[in-house]
Amino acid sequence: MTDIDFALVEGPRPPLYTAMKYWGKKPHNIWREYIDNYTPVDGVFLDPFAGSGISGFEAVKVNRKAITFDLNPLTSFFIEVYTSSFDFEKFKKAVKQILSEVANDEIYLKYFSTKSRITEELAIVQSFKWENESLYELGIVYTDSEFLKETKGSSTPCYQKYISVPNSNDQKLAIEQNNIKIKTWFPDEPFINSPSFSANFIRCIGGNNFSNLWTKRNLYVLSKIFDLIKKVKDQDLQRQLLFGFVQTLHLTTKMSVPRREGANRQFSTSWGRSAYICASRKMEMNPLLVFEGNCFGKQSVESCLKNANGYLGKTPRALRVSESLKNKHKLSGFDLKYGIVDINTITDYIPDKSIDFIMTDPPYGGLVQYLDLSSIWLNWLKNLDSKYVPNYNAEITIKKGVLDIDLYQQRFTNALKNLRKVLKDDGKIVFTFHNKEIPIWNAFLKSITLAGFKIEKVIHQQNRRTGESNVANPYGTSGTDFYIRCIKSPEVILKTEKEEFEYFVIHKAIEILALRNEPTPFQFLFNGLLAEISSGGFDLENFDENVKQILHKNIGVIFKHTENSSSKAGKFWWFVNPEEYIKYPDRQLSARVEESIISLLRRRTSITFDDALAVIYKDYPNGLTPDLKSITSMLQKHAIKSGGRWLYNAQVTEKAFTEHTATIYKLICIGGKLGFNSFVGKREQPEPIKNKKLSDYCDLTSLQDVVEDCTVRKRIEMMDLIWLQRNDIKIIFEVENSTNFTSGIQRGSNLPNNVLKIMVIPDKRESELNRITDPLFRESFKTHNWKYILYSDVDKTLNSRANVVTINLFTKDLNEWK
Ligand SMILES: C[S@@+](CC[C@H](N)C(=O)[O-])C[C@H]1O[C@@H](n2cnc3c(N)ncnc32)[C@H](O)[C@@H]1O
Repeated sequence: MTDIDFALVEGPRPPLYTAMKYWGKKPHNIWREYIDNYTPVDGVFLDPFAGSGISGFEAVKVNRKAITFDLNPLTSFFIEVYTSSFDFEKFKKAVKQILSEVANDEIYLKYFSTKSRITEELAIVQSFKWENESLYELGIVYTDSEFLKETKGSSTPCYQKYISVPNSNDQKLAIEQNNIKIKTWFPDEPFINSPSFSANFIRCIGGNNFSNLWTKRNLYVLSKIFDLIKKVKDQDLQRQLLFGFVQTLHLTTKMSVPRREGANRQFSTSWGRSAYICASRKMEMNPLLVFEGNCFGKQSVESCLKNANGYLGKTPRALRVSESLKNKHKLSGFDLKYGIVDINTITDYIPDKSIDFIMTDPPYGGLVQYLDLSSIWLNWLKNLDSKYVPNYNAEITIKKGVLDIDLYQQRFTNALKNLRKVLKDDGKIVFTFHNKEIPIWNAFLKSITLAGFKIEKVIHQQNRRTGESNVANPYGTSGTDFYIRCIKSPEVILKTEKEEFEYFVIHKAIEILALRNEPTPFQFLFNGLLAEISSGGFDLENFDENVKQILHKNIGVIFKHTENSSSKAGKFWWFVNPEEYIKYPDRQLSARVEESIISLLRRRTSITFDDALAVIYKDYPNGLTPDLKSITSMLQKHAIKSGGRWLYNAQVTEKAFTEHTATIYKLICIGGKLGFNSFVGKREQPEPIKNKKLSDYCDLTSLQDVVEDCTVRKRIEMMDLIWLQRNDIKIIFEVENSTNFTSGIQRGSNLPNNVLKIMVIPDKRESELNRITDPLFRESFKTHNWKYILYSDVDKTLNSRANVVTINLFTKDLNEWK
């Protein structure tokens, strides 16, 4: 088994996972790769904080036995729905029956219809929009006769809608609805006592009762649908209907807000933030239509369950465990063992040292209050079965005034100790984690160590969406995770020396910046540092300064800020004196990344964004990962987008390569005439010229016998061309056909100043070169003994009876800078 030591690329979610709402759903394909890699074929995989249950299904997909537990009863509900036997025709019939029954209900008809603005028939209202207490807009469904007219006779059943202002009757009904009497059951109870339901929220939503989450007419319809589902005898069918119902609940509350103007989605809404919020603008969605949409079509029960067996390759044999069942310890006879299990009791369900691999996504401090949020669903489900009453007290989280960070850490450490017990001695455990608050990181890292795990590898895994879309804060931490791989170890003592920690942070920050070799936004530096600190074995708790403060103290000494006008990522961090820290200068990170992208395009001609990401993640891990948005710009520069793929735009880039190669070839010829041996750069050696490769024309293809130090040699071997006499490097050349002038300078400074260095440029770039005002560039050019020569002068030299005097004759210094 080879370890996974770099970030992987997230794939698009299959329909199986798009229908369910849960916070922090993990990238399914990445988890599958881990499970497949770390769990032997006949082994057992465990996820004790399974949430939406994705990890268990992915394990089934690769034929591994999985145990997926969670304290949240919703996880078990999802698993039971997904492993139920699905007969679409039966499901369709049952849904249609519910739809027809509610659609013909007197109250429904009264409160969810309006006079059509076109024909004056009765039309169904799809949504009502509110600003504070006043109704200002309706989404209205075309009546059958209007719809057929609109679509010129097409009979595709689909709701076409339009927007209109409310009439006086709509306004009247909007008020009158408060008098509706509901005879069927609904959760009529106060909100649980938790900071998730603030006094402000309770006031704004209409009082301390759970049912206030919905308007009266919505509650009426929901309660009616729920009542009809409860009467269904077939358990599988009932669960599937409940799944559609559960997904309807959160989309029909008063917390739904209209989407912002311009989003072009006037008829839909979402529960966007993981909190109970009450805004002044509200969107009251028709629950019957939402329920129908959640049962059929895209992102629905239909798409999800029709896809399930095909995707998983089988109907998984599911085994439910609970405290009262005798099967608790069973390790065979199932594909998926699941249950509502508090991690602190997990050893009651799993024998010691029986698990091969654990991968889990624990609660990130109090970032998301899973149980509080889930009460929106569980408070309904519990009417069917008391197993859906969650054990709020056992949740591992941080809640103001209820559970503080110490308790979080204590519970979490105990939980991890249990995981250590059930894990085989040679088993590995991978945690995904992120929280931008250092104390929470520290609590997390400390628990890992106290529980007897040793961090083996930390990988920073970016969310692909930050790279592809132009979201408001692409540099925030929410879109990224750290994958922390651990093995069992005896207890380790955490280091607490303040000086040692400061030294470590500064030293690592220097290392990261030097390797990137370019001014870098803080977030990139910070993500790289977190990965390093996590595996460094430090106890951060005793430090009153966090990472940012330590670095800030060194502003003006080691680091400086420079302006960043190219993105929203904030000021750049860079060195006051780069030469002091960059021992082996390489090209800037962005230039290296661009080169990797070009090389991939040249090899494969047509690539996807994900292909590019895979290469970048592998070659530039953690602190070296570039801003993913820059990858899109690089692709735009060298490729054309077509049908979701990027096609290499060979014309422009290849022309530059041909000129670059031809110039190196000419210089090899001149060198030969002058009695020099030539070495051509590793990257250029395979380039084609005159039916051969460049390497076929040069005398040396390696500098093994010329430069002893391996690191320096590797850098020098990347120079475009070197002339040598015997084993002495005499002149080096960098051909800058279209590339950045600074990259060659940086590589060339690995050589002593007495070696002549010549930059070879097209005639048309001469003024561009001389216009460079960066004092650092001009200084390096001079001190490192650089000259430049034009392409036309290379040709003249080639055609003349050249000798060493002539090549020197044509080389020039930079113009004096005025
Ligand atoms: C970050 S989420 C996991 C999300 C999951 N990876 C997914 O893809 O959906 C953390 C989970 O830990 C669960 N949890 C919190 N305290 C727990 C406890 N004491 N025992 C078991 N699970 C717990 C929460 O219910 C929540 O589902």
